[in-house]
Amino acid sequence: MPGLRDRAPVYLDCDTGIDDALTLAYLVAVGADVVGVGSVSGNVSAELGARNTLDVLALAGRDDLPVAVGAHDPLLGRFHGGALGVHGTNGIGDVVLPRSPADPTAESAAAMLSRLAREHAGRLHVLAVGPLTNLALALDADPDLASLVGGVTIMGGAALVPGNVTAVAEANIFNDVVAAARVLDAPWPVTVVGLDVTMEARFEERHLEALLAGPPVARALGAMLRTYFRFYSPVLGRPACALHDPLAAAVALGALTPTLAPVVPIEVDTTDGPGRGQTIVDLRSRYIGYPPLPGTRHRVVLDVPAGFGDTLAEALLGL
Ligand code: RIB
Ligand code: CA
Repeated sequence: MPGLRDRAPVYLDCDTGIDDALTLAYLVAVGADVVGVGSVSGNVSAELGARNTLDVLALAGRDDLPVAVGAHDPLLGRFHGGALGVHGTNGIGDVVLPRSPADPTAESAAAMLSRLAREHAGRLHVLAVGPLTNLALALDADPDLASLVGGVTIMGGAALVPGNVTAVAEANIFNDVVAAARVLDAPWPVTVVGLDVTMEARFEERHLEALLAGPPVARALGAMLRTYFRFYSPVLGRPACALHDPLAAAVALGALTPTLAPVVPIEVDTTDGPGRGQTIVDLRSRYIGYPPLPGTRHRVVLDVPAGFGDTLAEALLGL
């Protein structure tokens, strides 16, 4: 498909979750070259996330893709039990999918990432749409990892808008702040796709209806989305949901070009106070023409073209 960034091989790290499920289906639909998928605890446990990932991939016709179970607990502390009120008790809107014949790989997600970075040296793109524990573990175990990876895109953080877990913190960052700080400190180029743009990229009722009336894969995704809509509609004030992870995928693939994405320093607040999990994005250079500030490496997406809901629905209806 035109627009995909040179069809770079992609490692996806996810906590499947309804918007993660949409992302898996989207990556398959657009023909992305996904070479491995790792799970991490977030929306659900890493173990359930891997099972959901396998089952969604099988639904989309890709039961051949390797899926590795990743970290159950964050680097510090314990897994909190998930976001079942948002994603349903099984993480995919209480929809029961046919069980994929495939099982998770024997290697861990961190080991898979490290191996794939070597196999595709300089080309692998890491797309992380859950807490960043696996990426941090891989960085710690493999000092060369950052230089081997071509680029990293994360769905996480909030630059100029409120958080969705605390006043300032977004879930993927908050659920493992130590890992997030480690990943953003590492010497690799990171594109951050946060709530500034993902809360504005939406499915509306018409998209849901189109999916529910579509072919079987779209119908199953539509059934999951009913749960997501139940959570998001009161938040958004209309029948709709946010498209966090699929938007990050579209940016990672180069299928969607941000209209505003300055390269600026970012710091993660790892203190225990009310700022814990905040992504502190230093945007001073936008206003007073500083030369690049020390630590400037990360591209923070602040605006994208409208209409991603249409693009995503069209892709999913094609499966
Ligand atoms: O804050 C939204 C993010 O948290 C998304 O990745 C969602 O799937 C959850 O992981
Ligand atoms: Ca996610």
